[in-house]
Amino acid sequence: MKSFRAVLMVGAALVAWSGFAHAQAAATPPAATPPMYAGVKRCKTCHNVEKGGGQFAKWTESKHSKAFATLASPKALEIAKEKGIADPQKADECLACHVTGHGEAADKFKESFVAADGVGCESCHGAGSNYLKKSVMQGVRDKKMKAEDYGLMMPTEKTCAKCHNEKGTGGKFVDWKADSTKIDHSIPAGYVRGAEAAAPPAGE
Ligand code: HEC
Ligand code: HEC
Ligand code: HEC
Ligand code: HEC
Repeated sequence: MKSFRAVLMVGAALVAWSGFAHAQAAATPPAATPPMYAGVKRCKTCHNVEKGGGQFAKWTESKHSKAFATLASPKALEIAKEKGIADPQKADECLACHVTGHGEAADKFKESFVAADGVGCESCHGAGSNYLKKSVMQGVRDKKMKAEDYGLMMPTEKTCAKCHNEKGTGGKFVDWKADSTKIDHSIPAGYVRGAEAAAPPAGE
């Protein structure tokens, strides 16, 4: 009887321990937390390092960052007039492709998100609240974590086609090779984040 109780206790302890270990493992991918749009400024905090590819600066120079402003241009007003739209910056018909996440529920947007930033990082990479932690970003980079578990997308031609399609203004289609090169913001080969900071200053 006594030894039976001891077995039970050891068993219970084991169950508790494995439950704890399991909970820890399961806590990693935030599957139950729907990702939210955080806005380009959140990405800028880490992705504005020139040696790392200067993604934020490159995006700022690209037309994607101006996609909302464009909707106030004379050309936009002309296009809108033909369609009977008074203000393209307020029209779903235009915002659909000229800002990030248009049409999604209000609770999908963090306070840091700014629609006027146009076609932001998250238009192509997915809503960022679950992946923008450094530990996750590095984990995905090192292939220790799965991008899709955190809502991070590596865009393909299909991603572009959501906006660059026959309904898109100008009617131009994406030529994947040429157009993805035009917006290229890759991380230079051999770049190791923080390596410059860790190295002793020259002359020491
Ligand atoms: C706290 C810092 C931090 C923030 C904020 C951050 N990232 Fe990252 N990200 C990293 C690090 C570190 C890497 C690994 C590569 C490197 O060092 O540049 C990375 C890598 C990536 C990669 C490449 C992943 C791969 O598999 O190669 C993408 C894409 C990316 N980030 C997009 C974003 C976007 C979009 C945002 C904003 C929603 C964002 N990041 C916000 C730190 C960050
Ligand atoms: C289905 C997606 C989509 C919708 C909807 C859309 N646009 Fe665009 N728009 C684009 C894309 C993609 C481009 C870039 C085209 C290119 O340069 O290849 C663009 C470019 C533009 C430009 C600059 C290019 C030019 O022709 O000079 C203006 C202005 C513009 N859109 C206005 C509007 C207005 C106004 C509306 C609403 C009536 C609208 N767009 C709706 C996708 C869209
Ligand atoms: C959310 C909608 C959207 C998505 C997704 C999108 N684009 Fe665009 N893109 C636009 C709009 C709108 C413009 C025009 C902005 C303007 O002229 O103000 C544009 C402009 C461009 C341009 C014009 C050149 C320049 O200087 O920036 C290129 C090239 C381009 N996109 C490539 C791509 C590629 C490649 C992808 C996929 C990896 C992509 N786009 C995904 C909406 C989108
Ligand atoms: C118009 C779509 C689009 C936008 C907007 C965009 N990206 Fe990307 N991004 C891409 C594409 C396409 C790739 C290349 C995917 C691949 O190599 O498979 C990429 C790759 C990356 C990579 C990995 C580069 C590498 O060498 O592995 C990082 C980091 C990144 N993007 C960060 C950002 C950040 C930060 C922003 C906003 C400041 C941003 N991206 C905005 C389309 C976009």
